Amino acid sequence: MAEVAIVADADEAGELVAESIVSLLRSKPDLVLGLATGSTPLSSYRALAHRIRHERIDVRGVRGFALDEYVGLPAGHPQSYRSVISREVVEPLGLTPDLVRVPNGDLRTLRMAGSEYEAAISAAGGVDLQILGIGRSGHIGFNEPGSSLASLTRVKTLTESTRSDNARFFDSLDEVPMHCITQGIGTILRARHLVLLAFGEAKARAIAAAVEGPVSASQPGSAIQLHPHTTVVVDEAAASLLAHADYYRYAWASRAALPIEQAG
Ligand code: GLP
Repeated sequence: MAEVAIVADADEAGELVAESIVSLLRSKPDLVLGLATGSTPLSSYRALAHRIRHERIDVRGVRGFALDEYVGLPAGHPQSYRSVISREVVEPLGLTPDLVRVPNGDLRTLRMAGSEYEAAISAAGGVDLQILGIGRSGHIGFNEPGSSLASLTRVKTLTESTRSDNARFFDSLDEVPMHCITQGIGTILRARHLVLLAFGEAKARAIAAAVEGPVSASQPGSAIQLHPHTTVVVDEAAASLLAHADYYRYAWASRAALPIEQAG
């Protein structure tokens, strides 16, 4: 079972995530972070930036791998995940730009982009902590329903519902690319610790399916149940359809009484 933290709001979630990352950084200054885009992880990046500044934490050695990227957007497009990761993560955290990679969505080199990305993650020694959001359809990264639970980084076709959810970042729906390149579910499962975040009622079904539903390619988020160390951090609204919410609260509140770190 994943550990589930039900928190008051996105800010409290951000502080929890920042604390986990800061404590890992103390023993591993060249930590490898798995970075999600979307609105959900923003409070975590904000809280982490705050801690880094105020505690003068040296993050020059931190490496990062983004989950996904659109295919075919021109270089420097403000909504490419390369630009988003620079703007929302690399710059505010003060990371070393060359140490943070995003899958390459350039059409000319697409054929090799997936295997190159996998090789780069392996060469870095794998991801230590992977931040994940979840789409309303249950997708993680851009692994839409039906994605193989063993999949590696590859090109996928976005669903119409993901395109329309993401149209808010573009001038019109027509501008949202139809394809993406995303870490696979198998790639994500290789990270040493998964932290899945979700806020708001619109995510409640996807969270219930991910945490308590059957493990199924139809609900890509449910793959977290296959991972030995996942922490799910949700607000009350996103937790509202969890059948065992009372137990999660009780287990989370009492974890400090254990002399070991709980996992699974
Ligand atoms: C996109 C991203 C996902 C993200 C999802 C949810 O599709 N590729 O990584 O989890 O959106 O986005 P938001 O956090 O804005 O709800």
